[in-house]
Order: sequence, then structure tokens, then C-alpha cells
Amino acid sequence: MKSYQLSMTTRTYFGNKCVEEAVKKENSVIGSRTLLLTTGSVLKDLGFVDELVSWLDSEVFYYDKVTANPDVAEIREAIKLGRENHVDSVIGFGGGSAIDAAKATAVGIVSYIDIEEYLIKGLTPPDDTLPIIAIPTTSGTGAELSKGAIISSREKKIKSGIRGEKVTPAVAIVDPTYTFKLPFTVTMETGFDVFAHAAESYCAVKADPFSEMLSEKSIKIVGEALPRLAKNLDDHEAREMMSFASHIMGYNLKNIGNCLPHRLQYPIGVVTETSHGAGLIALYPAWIKHESTVNPTRITQILDWLGCEEGQPYDRIRKWLDRMNISRNITDLGKVPSAEKLADMVSGNLKNDKLADVENIIVTLYKESM
Ligand SMILES: [Fe+2]
Repeated sequence: MKSYQLSMTTRTYFGNKCVEEAVKKENSVIGSRTLLLTTGSVLKDLGFVDELVSWLDSEVFYYDKVTANPDVAEIREAIKLGRENHVDSVIGFGGGSAIDAAKATAVGIVSYIDIEEYLIKGLTPPDDTLPIIAIPTTSGTGAELSKGAIISSREKKIKSGIRGEKVTPAVAIVDPTYTFKLPFTVTMETGFDVFAHAAESYCAVKADPFSEMLSEKSIKIVGEALPRLAKNLDDHEAREMMSFASHIMGYNLKNIGNCLPHRLQYPIGVVTETSHGAGLIALYPAWIKHESTVNPTRITQILDWLGCEEGQPYDRIRKWLDRMNISRNITDLGKVPSAEKLADMVSGNLKNDKLADVENIIVTLYKESM
């Protein structure tokens, strides 16, 4: 059996309505002054921000201008607010964007290097990065456990990661009830992202027996719960299942990482300003088809666990997406440059996917997904 090392440094709380108790227990980590980040005002309008603030013993400074693809300009504003008020911690409350923004802000508050430099040069976050408390409200990102923050620079047309142990949240608080009212598109796209983390970490070169166990569990859960939610968004049990599947994939994101679809989605997200999950859905049939040439047994297992009909790998995943009415191609997401131009924008480690060794594969995947 393959040997492995496992890092689980985040203190985790999981359960319906667990947030109040969790933040009270984590008072010493949150400190006397904290910066709270959300993506827009939705959580405020729903009353969730005021509720959270009422549970915190800290003075709270609030920044709500994080966007779906957090940009360095927003992060600089959040850093300024945090510095001016000498905060002890940063809370990311929302989807992956809010949590990623919290991570980058926690780095930037203590660092004299501009946050964009971290993206461009791949710098490691400093040791005194402020503690990060992640409270996800969607199920999909696993960002509450991962050691990366994906940030864009629209000006420089890059989307890249700030990666390192220090951006792993100190505390993750996962309350599935926050996901109960998510609309169809967010539910499906974030739900698909959960599957993508499970499938890609399962095919990854770095996969190990522990991560494989988590991937299998997660894929089986998504295979049952996501089609149920496609039919009935009020299926609370399915929501809880998706939150759990998403959360356990956080361990794989942290310890194993992803394959080509995650690297290829980022340029699509930047160019079309569409969600992470939307781009992944567009890329998946082509990736499954080609990955099955280098990892045939694993791709068959994945599609079986997901509950796909028999057939060729490409058709199996396509039909599964069609059944839930969420199939799409890259060109459905907006105007995009040529496959070659998109391929030039791909960054990050590609070597975790055996498929990356196949000649011209990135351009091929983009072309077949158009
Ligand atoms: Fe993802």
C-alpha cells in the first residue's frame, strides 16, 4: 500500500446550527477585534451577518465587497480596513470566494509585500499570517480546509493561488442549514465542484489510500444527493449530505490537490466571469474521455459510483449532466478567445495529472469543450 502523510490542522465543527457554540468556543482565536468578509450583501439581507455578529464577543469590522472571482483590488481594500483597525483574525463567511478573500487578506494585513506579488511570484505566506476562521454557506469549495486562496488580477489577466500552510484556516465551521435556500444554479454548480474535487483527487498522481477512501465516499454521496436536489431543492437531507461530501473533500484539496480541469477552468472564469462550477461542468466530458486513456480503471469506478448509465466515458458523464439539466459547453458561458489563447493562460502545477504528459492535451481539451 502506498505510504502517505496527512495534515489535519484545522479545528472543525460540523452540524446543523453549530455556529453559535463554535464561535463561543473559539473566542481566543477570533480575538477582541475581527474582520468579517462576505461576498455582497446577500447574507446581510438574510439576517445571517447580524446573527453571527451577535454571537461574537469581538468588535467586528465588516467588508462586503468581495466578488465571485476575488480581485486584488478588493483584497487591498479589505487589508486596509483590517490594518487600520488592528484586527486579530479574519472571518470568511460565504462561498469559496469569501473564504479565499479572507485567506489573502489575513496574509496581506501582516505583510509589506503587495498581495499581487504573491500571485505573480508564488510567494509563501508569512508565519505571522492572522488566524482565519472559515464559515462556508455553500457546499462545494472545501476552501474551509484547503491551504490555497485563489485570487484574480483583472488588470494583469491572471488568476492564481496563494498557497501554504499559513492560509489553512485555524477553524472551520460548517452548518449545512446555510445551504438550504440556495437557488438551483448555485446548488448544482457548487455541487458539481464537490464531485470534481473527488474525481480529480482520485485520479491524481498524489492520491493515497486515505484520500481514495474520502473520494469514494464523496462521489457516492454526490451521485445520490445531487440528482435529488435537481428535482427538489427543499430536500434538506440531500443538502446535509452535500455539505458533508464537500467538507471531506477539503482534506483532499489540502493533501492531494486536483487535476487538469481545475487548472483549465481558471482562464474560463476570468474571461467569461462565470462561476468555478460552471466552467468545470463545461470541461468535464472531454476530460473524462481523455483521462480514461491514462486512468481507465479509476474513471470506470468514478462513473459507476456516480450512478451513470453504461456506455463510453464521455457519454456516461454527459447523460448524467443532461439528466439534471446542467450540461453546457464553454461557448455557452460567454465569448472566449481561441483554445490556444486560453491554453496560454493556464498556470499552476499540471504534473498531478498523468494526462498532462499527453502532447497538446490542454488545447485539445479546450477545443473539445467548446
Ligand atoms: Fe473546485
